[in-house]
Amino acid sequence: NTEKLSSARFAEATDAFVEEFTASVNFDRRMARQDIQGSLAHAAMLCKIGILTEQELSDIRGGLLQIGGEIERGEFVWSIKQEDVHMNIEARLTDLIGIAGKKLHTGRSRNDQVATDIRLYLRSEIEMILAQLQRLQIALLDLAEREADTIMPGFTHLQVAQPVTFGHHLMAWFEMLCRDKERLQDCCKRLNVMPLGAAALAGTSYPIDRFMTAELLGFSRPSNNSLDSVSDRDFAIEFAAAGSLIMMHLSRFSEELVLWASAQFNFIDIPDAFCTGSSIMPQKKNPDVPELVRGKSGRVTGHLVSLLMLMKSQPLAYNKDNQEDKEPLFDTADTLINCLRAFADMMPRIQAKRENMYNAAKRGFATATDLADYLVRKGMPFRDAHEVVGQAVRLGLQTERDLSELSLAELQGFAATITADVFDILKLEGSVAARNHIGGTAPEAVRKAICDARQNTLQN
Ligand code: ARG
Repeated sequence: NTEKLSSARFAEATDAFVEEFTASVNFDRRMARQDIQGSLAHAAMLCKIGILTEQELSDIRGGLLQIGGEIERGEFVWSIKQEDVHMNIEARLTDLIGIAGKKLHTGRSRNDQVATDIRLYLRSEIEMILAQLQRLQIALLDLAEREADTIMPGFTHLQVAQPVTFGHHLMAWFEMLCRDKERLQDCCKRLNVMPLGAAALAGTSYPIDRFMTAELLGFSRPSNNSLDSVSDRDFAIEFAAAGSLIMMHLSRFSEELVLWASAQFNFIDIPDAFCTGSSIMPQKKNPDVPELVRGKSGRVTGHLVSLLMLMKSQPLAYNKDNQEDKEPLFDTADTLINCLRAFADMMPRIQAKRENMYNAAKRGFATATDLADYLVRKGMPFRDAHEVVGQAVRLGLQTERDLSELSLAELQGFAATITADVFDILKLEGSVAARNHIGGTAPEAVRKAICDARQNTLQN
């Protein structure tokens, strides 16, 4: 079937370049399965309201299932003459079953059809994204458990600030992913509303049963307004926004992994299987996976901006502009699944170089705040204690010693109330153990957080 769409109205054939230019089949054929799913539900509804006979419905079902098989086996012949996935499948159906195929589009337009297809498509992509996200969360929990006692420097301004546990740091990443998961789930609430029945823009004169179609397709309800239904792409933007946040998080994880794997930090080892070498420098082991994920975060944010720009000036209702929503959405979903998968695969094999982390925490006066807190407990106002510890740090800098390496007499020179027990709190272990409250870095608090996370978060 190579005839022009609605050819009767036109006096000349479509310009060959325009045909190529306006066709979307080369990318929207990815929604073939959803298109068939939508058509099956629509046909069942048309039969129930008496527009299709049982025989016609059965022919349509048989034809669509055969087409699904042809597509899966790579036998289906896609044609840009048929413009998009919807027309390609409908044309093939009519080739296969004749007149019943021509009746399928009754009470429907490609405008509500495509809106339905994208929603169905994204719904299943989100499921796959959530599955990978969950794998990564579990990997983080396992690694955090293994490293609950591992002490490392915590940073602000990328300067050593206070000691933290590596497990605590990993649980910070875990928290980010919890919010990401909630955002995707929330996005699904608005995504899972069915546009079918809006037809081109104004609804249809047939006595359709939109609740039936919605139920067959697993939508929570039919949409409220036909004009809005065919023009709304908010759900796509929300998905891209949630995706951009996920990628922003993965990019931040990546940045830290790349830094930590450098000889200068030397905090972790990234398994060889996730790194590559250099074509010229024989010694190189480059952290390609995190670098690439960091890079890919840019394209997903780009897609978010593309979609916002795509929508911002469109008058109601459907406009051909909307055809441009697909490629950014498909690429967003692909990128998310691939990046989350790569991270979930890599994370269990990250090796912490515990001694290096510990020594780095010892070098930056990371327990200075603990000394100030100690002086406060001895009765000094915090602001004065801050000043006194500053002087002690200065002595340490001048003599190249950590606070714990100053003598008791030297420390007493700064504050007479200091006694020998000060060395307990100047130790890194004492510092982290003291922060034993909900949200704190103490190994005990981290273990509790991991335990809670396993129970609550992973269940829903
Ligand atoms: N390929 C089109 C899209 O992706 C399908 C809807 C076309 N509708 C129309 N009236 N031209 O949006």
